[in-house]
Amino acid sequence: MAKILGGITTSHIPAVGHAVKNELHEDPYWKPFFDGYTKIHKWIGENKPDVVINIYNDHGLGFFLDQMPTFAIGAAHEYRNEDEGWGLPSLDPFPGHPELSWHIIESMVADEFDITSCQELAVDHGFVVPMQLFWPGAPHNPDMPRAIPISANTVQHPIPTLKRALDFGKALRKGIESFPEDLKVVVLGTGGLSHQLEGERAGFINKDFDKYCLDNIVHNPEVLTKITRHELVEKAGAQGTEFLMWMMMRGALGDDVTQITRNYHIPISNTASGTLLIECAQ
Ligand code: DHB
Ligand code: FE
Repeated sequence: MAKILGGITTSHIPAVGHAVKNELHEDPYWKPFFDGYTKIHKWIGENKPDVVINIYNDHGLGFFLDQMPTFAIGAAHEYRNEDEGWGLPSLDPFPGHPELSWHIIESMVADEFDITSCQELAVDHGFVVPMQLFWPGAPHNPDMPRAIPISANTVQHPIPTLKRALDFGKALRKGIESFPEDLKVVVLGTGGLSHQLEGERAGFINKDFDKYCLDNIVHNPEVLTKITRHELVEKAGAQGTEFLMWMMMRGALGDDVTQITRNYHIPISNTASGTLLIECAQ
């Protein structure tokens, strides 16, 4: 049977893609950010996942405001990347795992989650920047697992509630764990933490709220479902709604979990960058 090894969160800021391309890992601005990934690389090297479920929010490449699925799951053999405006180099396609994708979609629709299934999906920086962070050289890193993108709407209101995001993760867990093949799966939640890119509050960051989320998501995620969507926008910023991806990831991990590493760094570009590795008991 497939099993979930753990979950990893990371911000997906496009500037990170530029820093990777320009090899700025030791630069004083970037070092505290990249240092947050050392333990994660070690864990990935020791655990060698076969599949990565990459939960991210599309920013206008795969979907646009005219057609915005609340929850979309990739079911393709591969996922092409393009730049949706940040000037990042386009990467080669990322191999998928359509058999597991369809199994998860079947399971989740049976569980009454109405999924948009995508047999073609272009993936943006929200997906590829984390892949490059965790598997340097992606998609040409030989250890890079096959990937299944899951995108949730954080762009066009109404966005899902935090409770719905956590419940989505719980249903996702059922779908993964009922897949008959022995596969080791890691789940990513990309985006966040607090940030707002435009309008009067552009540059807004809320350290206290980020700490509250980081302190609770590992062992007490249910308390975070009490935060309303309006409060989330108010406290995390308009794009801080990407925290929903973290809740979806967390729901997939179950109750018996251990935090392996946590990093928080302000700011990277306009964002409070957060990284967390949570391991599931086996
Ligand atoms: C930034 C952060 C994001 O989450 C994003 O999607 C784009 C840009 C930023 O801080 O620059
Ligand atoms: Fe984003």
